[in-house]
This record gives sequence, structure tokens and C-alpha cells, in this order.
Amino acid sequence: MSPDATSFMGGIWEFIAYCSTASTLRDSKISPKEGRLPNATKGAPHLREIFYRMGLSDKDIVALSGGHTLGRAHADRSGFEGPWTREPLKFDNSYFVELLKGESEGLLKLPTDIALLDDPVFRPFVELYAKDEDAFFTDYAKSHKKLSELGFTPNSKKIKDSVILAQSAVGVLVTAAVVIVSYVYEVRKKAK
Ligand code: HEM
Repeated sequence: MSPDATSFMGGIWEFIAYCSTASTLRDSKISPKEGRLPNATKGAPHLREIFYRMGLSDKDIVALSGGHTLGRAHADRSGFEGPWTREPLKFDNSYFVELLKGESEGLLKLPTDIALLDDPVFRPFVELYAKDEDAFFTDYAKSHKKLSELGFTPNSKKIKDSVILAQSAVGVLVTAAVVIVSYVYEVRKKAK
């Protein structure tokens, strides 16, 4: 296939992919209410209030807090300053290692981080993840998946089977049309 035809086909495929995604996923038009994110100045009961509401467990709370192995806080945004770990661009278990070490020059500990140490249910997970990085990676992946998929209901009755069937039929027809058009395009090009 010529480069022209290849990019033409590529464009069509992108368009089909966009249409099929856009027709099943809808962006919300309403912003969520303020105050739904965790407040870093609070303790364990607050963390549970926020995360339980989303169906997440104590283990999820600790594993997800390990997200702070990356990045840093900024005084002008949250009022807190600094990274949690010595290598804030590397995803590893150092958040937990540093947390167990206590105060460290230049490293941040939010009140919600300290709460993980003080709570008898949270603390064993902190200790586990500090000594077993693989356990952290495994649990983090599961918890992150849960968090990312909140509100996503693949079997939602809102998307009726007939709509999915109609979308698939349109997809098949468009694909067939594209194949025919590109075939005719190639044949005519060779004939010139
Ligand atoms: C447990 C409750 C949580 C609290 C109280 C909290 C609080 C905060 C605060 C205060 C900051 C600093 C914002 C700034 O000043 O720029 C921050 C940054 C950050 N948080 Fe959290 N967070 C929580 C959970 C999470 C979770 C679940 C993740 C991801 C799994 C996460 C990932 C991050 C990352 C990557 C940054 C750094 C952003 C940057 O470098 O600009 N946090 N968080």
C-alpha cells in the first residue's frame, strides 16, 4: 500500500476508534462537589470516611497512600512543601521505608501519612510494604485499578444491547466501505 493510502487508512481507523469510544463513554457535565478529596491535616477516621464511601478498604488506603512515593507538595498549592522520598521520580516502596524511619531532613510527612503509623490496622500494611516491595506493587496495582474504575459499570443497563448491536453494525459497514474505497484507490493508481 502506498504511504498516502496508509495514512488515509490510519486516519479512518483513528476516526472509527474515536467514534466507538465517544459513543459509549460520556464525560460528566457537572463538577463534583468540593470537599470530597481527603484533607491532609486530618487523621485515620477521616481517611476511612473518604475511602470507605468509595468501597475501598484499609489495605487500599495504605497501598494507595504509597502513590506519594512520586511527586511532591507545593507550599503555594496545599500549604505543605517537599517530596516524600529521596527519588520522587521513581516508583518504589521508599514512601513506606521513609515513613517508618520517622522525621527525615527535607522529606515531608503529612498528618494523614503519620496516621498510617499510629493506627493499629494501617500500621502492619506500612511495615509489610516497607520490607516487601513486591507485596506493595501487587496490592497497589489492585487498589489503583479499583480506584480508576470507580463509577464504571460495564454491564450498565443504560447502554442497551440494541444500541451496542447497532454500533457494531455501523462499524462493520464503515470498515467494509473503507476497504473497498482503498482497494479502488490502489487499482486506479496502478492503472494511471
Ligand atoms: C490518602 C489520602 C491523600 C491525601 C490526604 C493526599 C494529599 C496530598 C497533598 C496535600 C499533596 C500535595 C499537593 C501539592 O501541594 O501540590 C499530594 C500530592 C500528591 N498525591 Fe496525594 N493525597 C492522598 C492520596 C493520594 C493517592 C491515593 C494518590 C495516588 C494513588 C496520590 C498521589 C499524589 C501524587 C503523585 C502527588 C504529587 C503531585 C505533584 O508532584 O505535583 N495521593 N497529595
